Amino acid sequence: MLKIENLVFERDGKKVLDGVSFHIQKGEKVVLLGLNGSGKTSLLKILNGLYFTNSGDFCFEGEIVTKKSFTKQFETAFRQKCSLLFQNYEAMFFCKNIYEDIAFSPSRFGLLDVKERVFHAANMLGLENRLDEFAFTLSGGEKQRAALACIFALSPDLLLLDEPTSALDPYWTARLVEILEASNGCSVTATHNLSLAAELGERAIVMRDGKIVFDGKTAEFLNDKALMANAGLLHSHKHHHDGELHEHLHAHDWN
Ligand SMILES: Nc1ncnc2c1ncn2[C@@H]1O[C@H](COP(=O)(O)OP(=O)(O)OP(=O)(O)O)[C@@H](O)[C@H]1O
Ligand SMILES: [Mg+2]
Repeated sequence: MLKIENLVFERDGKKVLDGVSFHIQKGEKVVLLGLNGSGKTSLLKILNGLYFTNSGDFCFEGEIVTKKSFTKQFETAFRQKCSLLFQNYEAMFFCKNIYEDIAFSPSRFGLLDVKERVFHAANMLGLENRLDEFAFTLSGGEKQRAALACIFALSPDLLLLDEPTSALDPYWTARLVEILEASNGCSVTATHNLSLAAELGERAIVMRDGKIVFDGKTAEFLNDKALMANAGLLHSHKHHHDGELHEHLHAHDWN
């Protein structure tokens, strides 16, 4: 479905992505892990054709993606198949109500069953009674669910999710995991929630300073302290443990 080879992406003279390569097969679910600033959002934006790299190859469903190939016709076909939930999900609203926000892309891409798509996505995310509201009147987690509905309404082949549970409560976090598990589509999900990582993707791609430091089974990564430490995802500080003050490497939401 997707192949990237040796991507280099520079901003302000700094290599944000430095020689990133991987292939993703149809139906694969991948979780993208790494510290703040490691390059996850930049990579997802490149995969969505919002940023273009300085060098390297990006091939989606057999077609090479470059700034030049991004004609109107290519963009419509590409964006229907590949959708990104922004980390800053509030940037996904610009209509007068949630119905129109969710309907915006399916209408723009000329899909015929726009109404059904909106109601189906809204139902999935528990927003069926909120469709006439202005997105900015929703709570933080409700906004994130509305942003998820915007991309689910397209039923894309490839879902790019940038921290999709950052504002969700435990109920909706579990619902989202169920929704993703039930879909046979492909997803690449960036998260800092290590206790959720294995459920979001059997395969983990782990980044540090713009480079991939691990690409393999999520369970293997999470169970290997040396791999976790190499990615900077374990840390050490003094904390109480069985009544004693300890200091050892640990992850906060993962043991
Ligand atoms: N448009 C830009 N202009 C300048 N620098 C940028 C730009 N986009 C990203 N960067 C830099 O690239 C690095 C990687 O940023 P990115 O947003 O990809 O990280 P991230 O892994 O998603 O981090 P987080 O976990 O905080 O979301 C950061 O140091 C950031 O400042
Ligand atoms: Mg990010």
